[in-house]
Amino acid sequence: MSLIEQAARRLEELRRAGAELPENRAAPPAAPHGTPTPEAFMRTMDAHAESARPAPGPAHPPRTPSNYVPQRVDIDLKRLRDLGFVTPDAPMNQIADEFRVVKRPIIRNALGKEGIRVKNGNLVMVTSALPGEGKTFTSLNLALSVALEYDNTVLLVDGDVAHPTLPALLGVPHSPGLLDLLTRDDVDVADALVKTNVEKLSILPAGSRHRRSTELLASEQMASLLRELATRYSDRIIIFDSPPLLATTEARVLASLMGQIVMVVAADSTSQHAVTQALATIENCEIVLMMLNKASQSDVGTYYGYYGDDAAR
Ligand SMILES: Nc1ncnc2c1ncn2[C@@H]1O[C@H](COP(=O)(O)OP(=O)(O)OP(=O)(O)O)[C@@H](O)[C@H]1O
Ligand SMILES: [Mg+2]
Repeated sequence: MSLIEQAARRLEELRRAGAELPENRAAPPAAPHGTPTPEAFMRTMDAHAESARPAPGPAHPPRTPSNYVPQRVDIDLKRLRDLGFVTPDAPMNQIADEFRVVKRPIIRNALGKEGIRVKNGNLVMVTSALPGEGKTFTSLNLALSVALEYDNTVLLVDGDVAHPTLPALLGVPHSPGLLDLLTRDDVDVADALVKTNVEKLSILPAGSRHRRSTELLASEQMASLLRELATRYSDRIIIFDSPPLLATTEARVLASLMGQIVMVVAADSTSQHAVTQALATIENCEIVLMMLNKASQSDVGTYYGYYGDDAAR
């Protein structure tokens, strides 16, 4: 059965189980107990974005090996826990459980365990059909979840370069990042990585805004950077928070360069039509895993749903 057919069947099962899956966008339902509402989360993120926003000014001074100081940030884990993220001291909850299930095939495909070899399997793109479906929420949870539980190092890349939200969420100060690596010769990957207080988690911020930010994602420089990341950090799982597939053609080009795609479907708002269209744009990608986000617990028994193609199981 094709992935699109699987998706349609899964959505139909959920609909029969009573989950509300409107054909078009509708007002989101209340968040389950203990989970922040999207509005509360966005307000907090906006407040942090304000404080973390760089003052307009000249570009960064060139960083040469002689003036390079490794960046490090202390993530406010308590705040993340309050926002519903998987953190070291968060009680084992349903989201943590669901991510355990999801990350197993991702890690297996990424590291070529059990004889499964996936080309560039350690490059994992988290995307969705449309804005606001939970890509950032899922990427960060996945990154935290892998970094905390396994002996794997994780690099979380803010690849949603036109609307970067991870730095504000994690308190990463403005520093050279992905866009600088694509546009400047004097910044090396190692210079742009930001270490964190979660020992196995590093961040690559989106970097300095560029007038062609989104187009750069589909550039030859990006393809070559991905090749470098996949090989230079081959024992590391590299998770890309990305733009939505139906909003930009560049996201589709980016998807074609990744080893694995995690496609987030918002149960309360992504229409079946949008899911089908989005899946069609990435039909050449070898591994696509679907995550059903924001399905209410009482309706479907799980908060996150997951299925993938046979190669990913
Ligand atoms: N499982 C979830 N539980 C609680 N809140 C969630 C969940 N998934 C997403 N949200 C909330 O929904 C909002 C949108 O999520 P998020 O920012 O992750 O979406 P996105 O797909 O990255 O959006 P964009 O396309 O604008 O980057 C956020 O406020 C987020 O906290
Ligand atoms: Mg996002």
